[in-house]
Amino acid sequence: MRDTAASPIDLAAVAFIDLQAQRARIGARMEAAISRVLAHGGFIMGPEVAEAERRLAQRCGAKHVISCSSGTTAIVMALMAEGVGRGDAVFVPSFTFTATAEAPVILGATPVFVDVLPDTFNMDPASLARAVAVAKQTGLRPACVIPVDLFGQPVDFDGIDDVAKANGLWILDDAAQSFGASYKGRALGTCGHITATSFYPSKPLGCYGDGGAVFTDDDEAAKKLRQVRVHGQGHDRNDNVRIGLTGRFDSIQAAVLLEKLAIFDAECAERNEIAARYTAHLHNVVTTPVVRKDCTSVWAQYTITSPRRDRIAATLQAQHIPTAIFYPKPIHTQPPYRGFPVASGGLPVTERLSHEVISLPMHPYLTADAQDRVIAAVQTALA
Ligand SMILES: Cc1ncc(COP(=O)(O)O)c(C=O)c1O
Repeated sequence: MRDTAASPIDLAAVAFIDLQAQRARIGARMEAAISRVLAHGGFIMGPEVAEAERRLAQRCGAKHVISCSSGTTAIVMALMAEGVGRGDAVFVPSFTFTATAEAPVILGATPVFVDVLPDTFNMDPASLARAVAVAKQTGLRPACVIPVDLFGQPVDFDGIDDVAKANGLWILDDAAQSFGASYKGRALGTCGHITATSFYPSKPLGCYGDGGAVFTDDDEAAKKLRQVRVHGQGHDRNDNVRIGLTGRFDSIQAAVLLEKLAIFDAECAERNEIAARYTAHLHNVVTTPVVRKDCTSVWAQYTITSPRRDRIAATLQAQHIPTAIFYPKPIHTQPPYRGFPVASGGLPVTERLSHEVISLPMHPYLTADAQDRVIAAVQTALA
């Protein structure tokens, strides 16, 4: 086994996500792109925003792309455009980032928590069916399901769709962590009635601040989303046709995104190689992540599962290797969300995962040497 002792050089060698290494690849082009925005001064809805929307549509095949100010705003805008509100049940996983459940609450709707599958960490269609039954018994109107493509991998859309169709739900796909991935040959952005994503800097496709986008093939939904993005504006700024908000993406972030899009396919390929290497070396000691045969992942996280998770965390920390736990506290257990319904049978998988998952450094610039150190540290922890 390799020597796993940390030296000051090693400290610099392993980053959880390495945006500085990415900057070394495209920094000069990025600075030129930002300078062009400073020169033309069209900071809001400038030409870069339209170009970014065009390129995102081209990348995933969605008919309409409406860029916006964050992934959270993207989810809120989608729910607003479709009129979700009081009395509506919105089905969400609890094993996700808070924004997924927060968005329906902001609009007065009721999140109903659904369990996930143990192998993919994504929404369990059987638990969704049980959650719909609970919502009906509680007198809520089943309206929408927000499956999350967690850690880079698409949900089981066919399974979710069967339950959704049987119960009149529309699908708002939360692809905040997974833009660029595909399900049965279809790119995310085209798998739900509406898809929301985030360009938060640490996402596989991020910008240098907050940003997001909404995708749909539905002309009417796209029209409403564009109105919601700018205060419900109709044909001009004095014409307000619905309730909206300030939801725009800005030109500097769009310029950043365009440069990152240019290297996105290469980076996704690099992430896949790194994930495959982790799996080859770790599958005997921990439960390594599973990507369904009909899916591709963009590996927002490389997340392993072990009942000895705390030992792995401590060993890696002692060797100055960063790790993260997504998510140690399921949303339904947190004070603001404790009063909302959960699927019958509870969320046992979610609760177990919250004690067992740990994410390892994952980014396209992770060198083989740095990755070897991470692998050796995990092996040492469990030896
Ligand atoms: C699953 C999920 N949904 C929504 C969001 C919200 O995105 P943003 O941080 O851009 O508002 C995130 C961001 O971390 C996320 O991971």
